[in-house]
Amino acid sequence: MSESTFDREFYVYDANHRFAAMYPLLARQIVEDLGVSEGVCLDVGTGSAAVIIELAKITPLSMIGLDAKPEVLDLARENVALHGLPGDRFRFLEADVTAIPLETASVDLLISRGSVPFWDDHVVAFAELYRVLAPGGAGMVGCGFSRYQPIEEVRAMRPKWTGDGAKDARNDWKAEGYLPRVLAEAGIGEAAVTKDAYGVWVTMRKA
Ligand SMILES: C[S@@+](CC[C@H](N)C(=O)[O-])C[C@H]1O[C@@H](n2cnc3c(N)ncnc32)[C@H](O)[C@@H]1O
Repeated sequence: MSESTFDREFYVYDANHRFAAMYPLLARQIVEDLGVSEGVCLDVGTGSAAVIIELAKITPLSMIGLDAKPEVLDLARENVALHGLPGDRFRFLEADVTAIPLETASVDLLISRGSVPFWDDHVVAFAELYRVLAPGGAGMVGCGFSRYQPIEEVRAMRPKWTGDGAKDARNDWKAEGYLPRVLAEAGIGEAAVTKDAYGVWVTMRKA
């Protein structure tokens, strides 16, 4: 993985987090858009675990947070306790997205927010995500904010590098035609890419 710096403040999920207003709205949007609210949820590049913490407040899903950085997972566990949620609803895995230590077809809801710009091999990563998705399952993988937020709030939250276009390698995965090619090579037929002022997201389903 190529994300080299560790911004500790970003991984403490409390009321002062710079995206605190976004995560509850994104969680609600995920459930309403994908229509999956039971079973197992996998969050890839979970970071602070903010997305699954908010999903846990509104669904009975069992949560798995996966991240390549162990120091991030320590903070994620602390954040679960900080939000008064039972630790036994959450499992944390230290792993790379290209080698997910889970059984094939074992995940009902798949989410990954803000991690895809840091993946080294998108074809292998997406194939691996699709492998763990269960029949009837659905996922949202991408980068951005919730469309339940006012767009002015999103503009103020967006990191500066996202506006740097071709100058910043973390934007390469957003290039025209790139994601459709990656999804085809990963063997994922049922997927849609949306690109708008709220971000870039791949929505996938397994029949
Ligand atoms: C910008 S943070 C996003 C955290 C969280 N999903 C959120 O929305 O707040 C990106 C996370 O992806 C993780 N990550 C980066 N590359 C990864 C990889 N190849 N496999 C697993 N996790 C990775 C990083 O360690 C980091 O915690």
